[in-house]
Amino acid sequence: MRIAVIGGAGHVGLPLAVVLADAGHDVTAIDSNEDRLLTIAGGESPFYEPGLNELLQSVLLRQRLVLHEQVSVVQDCDLIFIVVGTDLKGDEMPQNESVFEVARSVRKHLSPSSVVVLRSTVTPGTTAHVAELLDGVVADVAFCPERILEGHALEELRAMPQLVGTRTGEVPKCIDDLFSSLQIEVLAMTWKEAELGKLFLNTWRYTQFAIANEFANICESHDVSFSKLRTSLLYRYSRGTGLMAPGFAGGPCLRKDTIQLLKSTSFQSELLQAVLQSHDSLTSRIVDLVCREVGDSDKKVVQLGLTFKPGSDDLRGSVALELAHQLNRRLKNFFVVDPHVLPLPEFNFLSENEVADTADLVVVATRHPEFLGVSVRGPVIDAAGPRLLNESASSDA
Ligand SMILES: NC(=O)c1ccc[n+]([C@@H]2O[C@H](COP(=O)([O-])OP(=O)(O)OC[C@H]3O[C@@H](n4cnc5c(N)ncnc54)[C@H](O)[C@@H]3O)[C@@H](O)[C@H]2O)c1
Repeated sequence: MRIAVIGGAGHVGLPLAVVLADAGHDVTAIDSNEDRLLTIAGGESPFYEPGLNELLQSVLLRQRLVLHEQVSVVQDCDLIFIVVGTDLKGDEMPQNESVFEVARSVRKHLSPSSVVVLRSTVTPGTTAHVAELLDGVVADVAFCPERILEGHALEELRAMPQLVGTRTGEVPKCIDDLFSSLQIEVLAMTWKEAELGKLFLNTWRYTQFAIANEFANICESHDVSFSKLRTSLLYRYSRGTGLMAPGFAGGPCLRKDTIQLLKSTSFQSELLQAVLQSHDSLTSRIVDLVCREVGDSDKKVVQLGLTFKPGSDDLRGSVALELAHQLNRRLKNFFVVDPHVLPLPEFNFLSENEVADTADLVVVATRHPEFLGVSVRGPVIDAAGPRLLNESASSDA
């Protein structure tokens, strides 16, 4: 099958393009970001995803994947995926204009037999609008949300059932054929069901993380470690599944999609408003705690981790990064350590083995595996709690 992936150099688009190419399809990754395309053409992913570089090199070598900047190349494709970013606007309102823009620009290049599959996460009603924009020029428009977890993209793309939303709730044959070629099950539904379903899943996760943080706060007030307690609560107790570990939660999707869901409905969800507030307040609680400890002194504070989750190089929507910006503004001597990101000019970067000799206070923001061996003198403030460990002995962060 001939497939185009518009946004094919992105965190979602590139793994999708590579996995489809590896399954034997002729895939064109189309992206407006020339730098990313150049990096990919050299056999390297512009971001870290386990196994992606190796598979990318293999499909480039086998000439299964080609790269392009112009959407005009979609004219020979059977299926066209759209996976461009749908970040919130500055005023935090959802924007799906990026998707509409692609639909308008691609319109005149489509063939009447092709099917367009929207894969960006969008506000309910967006696919219907895309279908209106493409009315009469394509065979069908579907919404097939991406549900992969960064860091697990390849294995999940090859195994996870796909939600396929269409106008009638019936899956077009070429989509069925495509996922059959990967031995993946397809779950048929309507556009709105698939759009809502995607937002529900991320909002559900964000809510679970908020509750974990609320429990950690309650535990702290009782001088109890929630992390330790959680381990016991989950031990051979299946109904506890979903009781998440506390700490910063964010990234490019969870907060955005919760806001997107809230703004899409006339229903006033007090619970979801509270979830957003709970996450937002964690950063200010940590900043207040650090500032209380350090006061006006010259004490050196070292933050471990900037990315939105362990093992990742992704800084998008990272609460740890936001924390670092706030601490950097407030403190005289502030340093960061993150082995997964290139040094950012606004921060003083240290390596892991400089922490013990530098830090009067350590803030654990992202639990990268590399930090397990870091030895720490003095107090530790941990976003995952306990919030303040007043240990003078060395401890592992
Ligand atoms: N990152 C995730 O883990 C994840 C998971 C599920 C769903 N999503 C959703 O998938 C969508 C894409 O997210 P992402 O993380 O891949 O974003 P990204 O920013 O990494 O990738 C988007 C790509 O689209 C390209 N692009 C933008 N406008 C374009 C245009 N007009 N023509 C061609 N290329 C264009 C950009 O250059 C970029 O490479 C978003 O809606 C996001 O919410 C992301």
